[in-house]
Parts: sequence; structure tokens; C-alpha cells
Amino acid sequence: MRKYLKHWLCLFLTVMLFVTLSAQQLNEISILANKPVADIQPTMWGVFFEDINFAADGGIYAELVKNRSFEFSLPMMGWRQVRQNGNGRVVPTFYSPANSANPHYITVFIDAPNGAFGLTNEGFRGMGIKKDNQYNFSVSAKISPNSNLKLKVELLNSKGEILGGTELEGFTTTWENHRTSFKATGTEPEALLRLLFTGTGSIDLDMVSLFPSDTWKDRAGGLRKDIVQMIADLKPGFVRFPGGCIVEGRDLTNRYQWKTTVGPVEARKMIINRWNMEIRDRQAPDYFQTFGLGFYEYFQLSEDFGAEPLPILNCGMSCQYNAGEVVPLNELDPYIQDALDLIEFANGAVTTKWGKLRASMGHPEPFNLKFIGIGNEQWEEQYIERYKEFEKVIKQKHPDIKIVSGSGPSSAGRYFEYAWSELKKLSPALIDEHYYMPPEWFLKNANRYDNYDRKSIKVFAGEFAAHDRDTTESESRNTWFSALAEAAFMTGLERNAEVVNMASYAPLLAHVDAWQWRPDLIWFDNLQTIGTPNYYVQKMFSTHRGTQVIPVLEAGKPLIGADSLYASASIDKNNAKVYIKLVNVSSSSKNIRINLEGLSILKNGEIETLKSKKLYEYNTIVNPKRVYPAFSTVTVAGRKISTNLDPRSVNVMTLGYKK
Ligand code: AHR
Repeated sequence: MRKYLKHWLCLFLTVMLFVTLSAQQLNEISILANKPVADIQPTMWGVFFEDINFAADGGIYAELVKNRSFEFSLPMMGWRQVRQNGNGRVVPTFYSPANSANPHYITVFIDAPNGAFGLTNEGFRGMGIKKDNQYNFSVSAKISPNSNLKLKVELLNSKGEILGGTELEGFTTTWENHRTSFKATGTEPEALLRLLFTGTGSIDLDMVSLFPSDTWKDRAGGLRKDIVQMIADLKPGFVRFPGGCIVEGRDLTNRYQWKTTVGPVEARKMIINRWNMEIRDRQAPDYFQTFGLGFYEYFQLSEDFGAEPLPILNCGMSCQYNAGEVVPLNELDPYIQDALDLIEFANGAVTTKWGKLRASMGHPEPFNLKFIGIGNEQWEEQYIERYKEFEKVIKQKHPDIKIVSGSGPSSAGRYFEYAWSELKKLSPALIDEHYYMPPEWFLKNANRYDNYDRKSIKVFAGEFAAHDRDTTESESRNTWFSALAEAAFMTGLERNAEVVNMASYAPLLAHVDAWQWRPDLIWFDNLQTIGTPNYYVQKMFSTHRGTQVIPVLEAGKPLIGADSLYASASIDKNNAKVYIKLVNVSSSSKNIRINLEGLSILKNGEIETLKSKKLYEYNTIVNPKRVYPAFSTVTVAGRKISTNLDPRSVNVMTLGYKK
């Protein structure tokens, strides 16, 4: 009896499965691979870097010492005195106006013939230290006559145990840079640096620095390798920098000025980071910009990625949400000159003033700058009037440079309409549009660019992110739903590549213990870096870019939300590939049959799938792979592919074709 029961149960389940499958609607999709409708620019998918959320200092810039040159508004912020059977005191701060970029330093008086007196530095929410890695310490120092001092440099873990260190001596009565290095004996996410002096006398200190030697491309004083690698893996077509609102500054004194970010690091003039006190619930009084990551490094990084650099410059206006200062038109020349000098810094011959500086920093070859952005999120006639002045001069002196102008902070409305109507009378190459909107907006707007004028100015979707519900855990706003909605929307960007030439998610980076804004594309702590679901969506699009858009049709129409499906496709003429992006937003699976017309497709292809049944799922530093791409194969029968799309999934098919 048991045996028969089992048999009947099996039969019943098989019949039910058959009934369900045959009841499921079949989506018949045609892809016209031999009918490309537009070119896709190599710049189509890029990254937007801004020093927000400790993205630069405390993030990608690998310096571990916070307030290394005592230039913070509170000069001893990040530093504490320590005693070990010795006495001493610290005098903050001496101010040397002759050194206008870095005027402050401290003096440490030491009376510790048999013990030690010194300082600790807390780093940026601690220092991330890795066992067996080499650490390079340096300090600019000068002792007073008759001082007899030795310095012990140590790393401590959170229990106060020593994680490795070294000693320095030979200080003189003139300012000198002293260097030493040592290997860490343990791993620790929140280490401290301890400097202990023994002997008697006093010593002046400035530029106290500790870097891992294991940086991106092993550059001394360089960038955190793991974070840069995550960005490199996106294969970005461009890098937009340095913002964002930090371009504008809360007021003009604190605007981003590229000239103060190049040359030797000790001569780069630190300023407050405008995100320091901007967000009421997420204040970070210790957030400053040392510019160790400055314009030279941004150009270098873009070059490393094979991406176009896209610097954005202040247009003579500070943030209109803050001070809203506007430079009178007859005083705008220095701002315009900054743009011209930047072009010279990037592209000029080594015999020019700024080209020579670039060469002295190690890059005699030009960086081949092609784009420049004027203004970030400015609005109304004050912006247009100023933009016009920049455009006039740049066009005349550098007709080949493509200018990017802004359309304000919103995706629609009075400021947006006004900017577009005025800019159409001028000649920017691209207009930057920003949208931080709910996921539902992204789904509804997957057709946003379908009716944009093909002959008009191109679009740079320069800052976008779906803002979903807010909960407590830092990474939690990067929900699967937000990523799914962005993927659906991005099929619309790709379909309209003739209009949209550049697109970037924003912001790019965030420290889990020091963020001001979320969601963000990549989260990190002092040791690790993780991709959000949104990151994997960006990566799926940017690493399957293609060279031309090809139509994806269901019943003769583009697939934009019918039956909760969104799709786009491209052909990659360089690699003889077809990429098909299929987004299923619904909670049920979809039965798909694709008919690929016009090309001789190879039999076996690959499908990359990102999915989660839970709409509010997200990745964390501890659980980085809850939403993570999986790969499988697809078989092409003649020109047909039959497949099932999982519920709530983003899928990219890669198929080869015979040339
Ligand atoms: O990406 C965060 C901020 O959003 C940018 O700084 C600004 O341009 C926008 O308002």
C-alpha cells in the first residue's frame, strides 16, 4: 500500500508541475541583432567619486594617521598624551605663516630619562592593520639644542597589546623627514599608533604618517588596494571627481580648489570637509580633506582604469542649500582661469607652467583630458550666466574639450526645465541629470529617455540611486528592491544610449562607521570592502557594455515593464558577442523564448543571474554574499533560446556569434 501511495504522489506532483508550467505565460522576445539602432559610447557606465562617507581620508586614501599635520580646527583631535614612568607636555600649536599651506606643528617636551612620554593617534575609527604587512612610518621633526631623544613607534590592538613597531633616533635641530618601517605581527581593525619618546628635551613634530606598503600598484603614500580593486572591477568608462557638493563647498572659502590638491602632499592645503557637519544625525567633526588624494591622483587612477577623467569644477557658486554665495560676473575670471589651468595641467606640454608641475609629479605624458564639468547642482539664472562665461572661454581656447553642464538637483520641475531650455541655446556636450528617488520611480521611468530629442545635447545621468526604506544597520538601505529597480531603469538608459552617453550611481563609497549618506555603491570598514546588490547590478551592465544597441521587442514593442519584464540588448563588435539584459521584477518566474534574428549565434552561452526572493535583502561586511551573482550556461537551438527567469532577478546573457 505504501509503495502505491508513493507512486500516486509522484504522478500527482508531475502532473501538477506540467499544469503549472503550461499555464505559465510564454514571453516571446525578438532580438534584432543585425539592426543596431545606436552606438554605445565607451563612457556609457562610469563611477562618481566624492569624498563623502570618509571615502577619501579614512577610506581609499591609505593614510592611517588622522590629523597628521595638526591642521584640524582642534589641533590635537585624534591625538592623546601617554606616560610610562616619564613626564612631559605637548604645546599645540605653533603657527608658522611662512608655510601657508601647512602652518601648524606641535612641540613635545619630554622629561623621561628612565621611562617614556608620548602620544597616541586613533586613526579613522581605528586603524586597519594586517598581519605580516609592512607599514611605513614617517615624521617631520626637529629637536631643540641639547635634547637627547629616541622614539619608539608601535601599533597596539584594542587590548593594548603591541602589534609590531620600530625605533627612530638621530633627530637634529633642523626640520628633517625621518622614515622607518616595520612588519605587523597581528591583524586588528581598530589599532592605535603609539609614539613613545625616551630621554630629555623637546621635539617639534609635523606630518606624522603611517601607510601600509601594500597599496594599489604599490605606490608609496598611495591608495587602499582592496577598495580600488572593487572599483577597477567595474571597468568604468569614466571617473567623475571630486564631487558632488564638495565641489561647491558650504561657502566659497571651502570650495574644492584643485590647485591646492597637487604638488608635494605636505604643501597641499587641508580644508574642512563640507560633509563634516552637514547631516544633523550623522555629524563627523573629525572629517577634513587633506587632499593626499588630489587631482593628480584622480587623473592617475582614471588612467589606471582606462577610464576618461571627468573633473567637475566650481562655477563661482557655493552650495545653494547652504551659504549660496555667488561670485559677481566681473570677478569670475580666477574661476575660469582655474579651468584653463586644469586643462594645461592635464594636457599641456611639460614646458608650460602646469604641464611642468604634472611632469614633476611623475607624469610627463599628458593625461589626455577630454571632458570638463562646470558646476555641480546649481540652479536658476545665476548658474546659467556663469556657465555661459566658462563656455565662451573654454570653447574658444579648447574647442575639443567636451563641456558638461548641470541641470540642478532634481529630475524634473522648474529648475530642471529652466536649465534645459537655457542650455539648449548654448553648446554643452552633455547635461548632468541627478535623481535620488524611490525604487518605484525608477520602474516607472524606465522609458524616461525614449522621447528625448536624438539631435539635442546628450545626457550624463551623473548621480542616481534608488532610495528605499531606511533601517538601522549601515548597509541596510542598499536593498535588493533598490538594485532591481535600478537594473530595470538601466535597461532604459542602454536602450537610449544615443541620448545617454554617460551614467554613474552615487555615491560610490561609504565607511560603515563613518557615513553621512546612504545608500552607497560600496561599503568598507578598516579591513574589508563589500559590494552592495546595486554594485553587482552596475558591474553586470558595465562589464557587458557592447558597442551598439540592438532592439529587444515583444509583440513589436520594446520590453518596458509589460508583465514586469524589462530588457535591453547590445552587440559587442570588438569581441563578437551579444549581451542581453533581462530584468524580472515580479515575484513569479517567467518563461521566456528568445528569437535572435540576423546573426549566426554560437551554441553555448553564459547567463549571469543576480537574485533574491527577499525584496529587502542586503549585503553586509559580515554577510557580503547574500545577493551575489551566479553563473550558468544557456544553449542556443538554432536562433532560439528558451529559459526561465527567476522571480525578482537581473540576468545578463552573453552569446558569441560567428563573424
Ligand atoms: O551624492 C551625494 C550628493 O548628492 C552629492 O554631493 C550631490 O551632488 C547630491 O546632492
